[in-house]
Amino acid sequence: MRQTVAAAIRAALCQQDPRAKAMAARKVARDWRLDRLAFVFDAAMPETPGRPDAPELLLPGKMPKRGKAGSERGRIALWHALAHIEFVAIDLALDMAGRFGAEMGPAFVGDFLSVAADEAMHFALLERHLHTLGSHYGALPAHDGLWTYANDTRHDVAARLAVVPMVLEARGLDVTPAMLERVRSAGDERGARILERILDDEIRHVRFGTNHFNELAKRQNEDPADRWKSLVFRYFRGNLKPPFNDSARLAAGLSRDLYTGLA
Ligand SMILES: [Fe+2]
Ligand SMILES: [Fe+2]
Repeated sequence: MRQTVAAAIRAALCQQDPRAKAMAARKVARDWRLDRLAFVFDAAMPETPGRPDAPELLLPGKMPKRGKAGSERGRIALWHALAHIEFVAIDLALDMAGRFGAEMGPAFVGDFLSVAADEAMHFALLERHLHTLGSHYGALPAHDGLWTYANDTRHDVAARLAVVPMVLEARGLDVTPAMLERVRSAGDERGARILERILDDEIRHVRFGTNHFNELAKRQNEDPADRWKSLVFRYFRGNLKPPFNDSARLAAGLSRDLYTGLA
């Protein structure tokens, strides 16, 4: 009998070791693509995914200063923070597919498992880059702000889509170009290429989120823009603020009218 997709996703979420989790995420995505997993949801997703002992997780306000930009310490802190974001992004994508897949259908599962595989690749690239700088994932503390959004929206797929891909990942589209510029002008061409690849992939991730959100709202006879705004207002604790990467956002299906109305 084929393994169920929920059991495979749950096993990947529960992995504590970062490399093992990244490999498990890519394997679930591949097995799904090759039709080796049954569309059956017989396993519950964990409240908290498996996490390694390091990095130590701190509240966002308790994070130590990153060190001067451009300094060796500052550079390592930047790549470490990015690696942590991608590590949590693996869990966010797996949880999206495993928690909401039964109600949203096989295409949704396929989309978010492919996102999980991308995030695993991003994590692997960043982890390797940290090694070339003489550091590693876990060497510094990290903050756990991202997962709290998953927790707050665990009962509602519309809220999850509105906040995670359509706000948090879209924010990545806004901040990556300037970061890429700085990294490239500091002479870190390999780092710049990693960021280019991430930016490309993240446009697709936001687009998946936007498309599934819009379809869901229409199925429920709701106006997607109104529904999105009320969910963001309710669940997102930060501010949507410019500069926005309008062209990348548009490529991801987010129109200016939508988010500037909330900024
Ligand atoms: Fe990513
Ligand atoms: Fe992503």
